[in-house]
Parts: sequence; structure tokens; C-alpha cells
Amino acid sequence: MGLIRDLLHAGGTGGLSWHLHAYGARQRWQPTLQLIEQFLAPVNPKSDHLLLIGGSAGWMMPPSWLTRFERIDAYDIDPLASWLFNWRHGAALKAQGTRIHHHRQDALATLPQLLQQHPQACIWFDNVLGQHRYRIGDAVRAEQELKVLKNTLQGRHWGSLHDVWSGHTDGRLLPAGLNVWSHHVTAQQSLAHAFAQKLLTSVGAKDVWQDHLTGHVFAPGHTTTWMPWAFKTHYWHWLQAGWVSA
Ligand SMILES: C[S@@+](CC[C@H](N)C(=O)[O-])C[C@H]1O[C@@H](n2cnc3c(N)ncnc32)[C@H](O)[C@@H]1O
Repeated sequence: MGLIRDLLHAGGTGGLSWHLHAYGARQRWQPTLQLIEQFLAPVNPKSDHLLLIGGSAGWMMPPSWLTRFERIDAYDIDPLASWLFNWRHGAALKAQGTRIHHHRQDALATLPQLLQQHPQACIWFDNVLGQHRYRIGDAVRAEQELKVLKNTLQGRHWGSLHDVWSGHTDGRLLPAGLNVWSHHVTAQQSLAHAFAQKLLTSVGAKDVWQDHLTGHVFAPGHTTTWMPWAFKTHYWHWLQAGWVSA
């Protein structure tokens, strides 16, 4: 039963339902994928070893960045992730000589051990931290754990792409040809009400939006890039991406 549940949902944030959705949404997600690629292009860590956390099938991961590494250790709780990741990225990685090792593992619960096992590796949280509150079902604990993550990662080169808010939109950007490019911003970390309001208004936010409790993942004042993601036609996310060089 457990395996079947995981194949379908993988803790509610992965599994077959996620992959089918991602496959069908490929075109709609393309502008966000380009923004991610643009964000990662200048991120050139010294380490040739990457710990990729929550990479799933890498639906939104540019292969050009993955192939910078000699070795990638990918951690996901989803039993389908390794197979689909290899299907999507295996050939490109092989062609560039990047070795990939998959681990089916809760990488947030075991992060201190992973860091100890791989002291030279850099770390990328690949759109996983925004699901933490839903996965563990305890908002207070999730927010605290996300806030202290940067202490656990002290001295390491690491980055994250994660949901900050999500909710319904009036779909005004879709008739404009999904032109979300003009809406992405690079800003000093800001949780100020006016900043949030500006981002939400720009995507035609309606009703109450979800707060993914990732607002303190990066230290105050750290410069990050914000990008919209048309997760569903009328249900969008605001994503935040940042990289920390130790
Ligand atoms: C939104 S998806 C990530 C999408 C991925 N970045 C892509 O481009 O396809 C979140 C992924 O994180 C995984 N995940 C959630 N919590 C995790 C944890 N604690 N440890 C490892 N993986 C986790 C889920 O199984 C899922 O595959």
C-alpha cells in the first residue's frame, strides 16, 4: 500500500499525479524554465559535486547547468523520480561525462548527515522547500525548520528555488501570450507588504493566497530573483531563487 501511495503522490508533492501534470504543462511552464536557466547561468560554483534535493524528473531544470558538475547525488522521496530524471536528462549527462547517483531519501530530515558525508559538495534545493509545510503538516515547525536551514548550511555553497506564495489569478497574463518575462524581478530579500502586493497584483491575484512559509530561508538583505510560475492556468506561484556563496 505504501509503495502504491508513493507512486501516486510521493508525500503529496511528487508521484504520478505530479509527473502527468508537469508533462501536460511543459509549454505553459516554459517561460519560468527560461527564467530559472537565466538565474542559474552565472551560478558557477567551484565544487564539481552537486547535491540535488527534490530534483524530481528535472522538469524545470536546465541540462546546461547540470552538466557543469562531474558528479550529482540526487535525493528525492518519489520512487518515480530517478527513472524519469534519467529518461529526461540521462543522455545529456552521459554525453558530458556527468555521473549521477540517485537516492530515494528524505533529504531534509537527513541533511546534517548528507553534508557530513559530502563535505566538498554544493547544494541546490530544487523547488522543494515550499512543500515542506504541506508535507509535515505542522506550519509552526515547518517555518522554524526552514528558517534555521541556513545555519545548518553555514560555510557551504548552496542555493534554492522555492514557492513563496501561490493562489488563484484572473488569468490576465495568459491572453498576453504568457509574457511573464517582464514580471520577474531581482530584489533584496523583501517581505514588505508593498513588495508582496506589487508581485501579486502583477499576476492578477484573486482570493486568499497560500504562504509557503519560505520567507526566511535566505538571510535578510540577501539578493534573490523572483519569478512567476503558471502552475495551472488560473493558479500561479511566485518563486524565489537565490544562491549563497560561503
Ligand atoms: C515540486 S517538485 C520539484 C520539481 C523539480 N524541481 C522539477 O524540476 O521537476 C518537489 C519534489 O521534492 C520531492 N521532495 C519533497 N520533500 C522531500 C524531501 N524531504 N526530501 C527529498 N525530496 C523531497 C518531491 O518528491 C518532489 O519530487
